Amino acid sequence: MHVIIMGPPGAGKGTQAERMTKDFALLHISTGEIFRNAVKEGTEMGKKAKEYMDKGLLVPDEIVVGIVKERLSRPDCAGGVLLDGFPRTVEQAEALDEVMQDLNMKIDAAISVDVNEEELINRLTGRRVCRNCGATYHLKFNPPKVRNICDHCSGELYQRSDDTIDTVKERLAVYNKQTLPMIEYYQRKNLFVSVDGSQSINQVYSVISAHLQKIKEQ
Ligand code: AP5
Ligand code: MG
Ligand code: ZN
Repeated sequence: MHVIIMGPPGAGKGTQAERMTKDFALLHISTGEIFRNAVKEGTEMGKKAKEYMDKGLLVPDEIVVGIVKERLSRPDCAGGVLLDGFPRTVEQAEALDEVMQDLNMKIDAAISVDVNEEELINRLTGRRVCRNCGATYHLKFNPPKVRNICDHCSGELYQRSDDTIDTVKERLAVYNKQTLPMIEYYQRKNLFVSVDGSQSINQVYSVISAHLQKIKEQ
């Protein structure tokens, strides 16, 4: 099964992805995560991506699409993938369809996690991420057992450089302008599923996992 998880910045895509990939044996492909790793490693692609990410803007389609295409061609994707944060424009969605067709794969669902802007700002400004394994926490809503230490790997937690209030506002504006139009693309294909993301992490997950279970049994 190949699934897309979408939704505005801070909606909980990464948080839900951690559980979805584990329970349904999906490979997690997060374009944001790929870029943050490239920034950490100081590659040319990372340097280019950082210029856009720190402003809250989308990295150009030709860079993102090339990366996803290469990633999806690897044999470990055959068992099922969860695309997190890709596609984010109608152009990327069209490019993904072409790549999938070439690889004899198809998308089974585009699950959108929806949350209002006020709550998104609260979630993003309180988020902390493990430097080592990427696990996501929140100071209030999902705190680690020990302050600033990852529950899974004891790594140090940090705040993402694009989680400042000004960059968050820009990311939300970019989402509304460039990503929202993509919903219609998946609605037309009957693949779009909207989930109320304002509920607790567990409640959101129970709705999503019921849906994945249905796809699995088809
Ligand atoms: P990316 O890393 O994808 O960031 P994003 O889309 O802005 O989304 P986030 O990762 O910030 O939020 P999330 O939905 O994963 O929420 P999380 O689970 O962490 O992309 C970063 C940048 O890379 C982009 O801005 C762009 O520049 C570039 N990029 C990436 N993909 C691209 C593409 N395809 N094209 C072009 N450019 C691209 O949760 C957030 C917080 O809320 C956490 O603290 C969590 O603990 C908490 N939380 C989660 N769920 C709940 C809940 N139900 N209740 C209470 N708190 C919750
Ligand atoms: Mg994320
Ligand atoms: Zn960790």
